[in-house]
Amino acid sequence: MATALITGGTSGIGAAFARALAARGDDLVLVARNPDRLAEMAIEIKDRYAVSVETIVADLGDRDDTLRVADRVASADQPIDLLVNNAGFGVHARLTAADTSPHEYAFDVMCRAVLILAAAAGRAMTARGHGAIINVSSTAGFLTMGGYSAIKAWATAFSESLAVELAGTGVTVTALCPGYVRTEFHQRAEINASKIPGPAWLDADVLVADCLADVAHRRVVSIPSARYKVGIFLARHVPRSAVRAVSGLLSSGRRSG
Ligand SMILES: NC(=O)c1ccc[n+]([C@@H]2O[C@H](COP(=O)([O-])OP(=O)(O)OC[C@H]3O[C@@H](n4cnc5c(N)ncnc54)[C@H](OP(=O)(O)O)[C@@H]3O)[C@@H](O)[C@H]2O)c1
Repeated sequence: MATALITGGTSGIGAAFARALAARGDDLVLVARNPDRLAEMAIEIKDRYAVSVETIVADLGDRDDTLRVADRVASADQPIDLLVNNAGFGVHARLTAADTSPHEYAFDVMCRAVLILAAAAGRAMTARGHGAIINVSSTAGFLTMGGYSAIKAWATAFSESLAVELAGTGVTVTALCPGYVRTEFHQRAEINASKIPGPAWLDADVLVADCLADVAHRRVVSIPSARYKVGIFLARHVPRSAVRAVSGLLSSGRRSG
């Protein structure tokens, strides 16, 4: 029997991971800030799938909270077989804003916590000779749409570097790079989702099923759907000036009015 730890497992993509993994019989450890939503999710999963669900209330923007979660990830008595570094949010503060704290908090949650938890998982899983780490990145990491793109470019490069470091240990690393997925993400980031065209949207359950298949095939980068695979292939092969021009157009069209 396997145990998966999912950060941000109470909503959106993280909740889809929780349901998919519980459906295949995995026990879960869910991490998020809101204790009520964690409790509700734990009850739903236990009732539907009869697996065990542990919850940890933690703000991954807080270093001590993150280290507490890392201790759970590294536990030898209650091993974690799959880490899903998923917690995250959009960042639309200007890079030149006088107050850089929104960017710093975003680094802490989507870079520092990802690094600390993946490092803990990588050490513990290597010692056991098996395990898997999924870092939820974004197709935005292939574009140049503000601090969020820079953070997700780091998440993808970090995942690829970690995969190289852990090659031959039995531990796999996968960067999941979703496009637009209907979750609470856009509302929380005050992005006007009505301007995003219908075909651009992905279903969270399909995204997660495809990602878990990619993990089983030991793929290091998981890009969902043929249309996003083509789009990202182009983003990687056209001149960067074209990527910046498209990024500028996309950025200007998606703010709330
Ligand atoms: N939706 C998309 O279109 C899209 C596209 C590409 C990539 N992504 C990435 O997918 C991941 C999940 O996003 P989502 O779309 O599923 O968003 P979501 O529906 O808003 O869910 C975010 C989850 O993360 C948790 N979380 C947020 N900040 C946290 C913090 N500081 N500490 C601990 N937990 C925290 C939230 O719970 P609490 O609020 O209770 O903490 C919630 O469970 C993110 O990394 C995001 O960047 C999303």
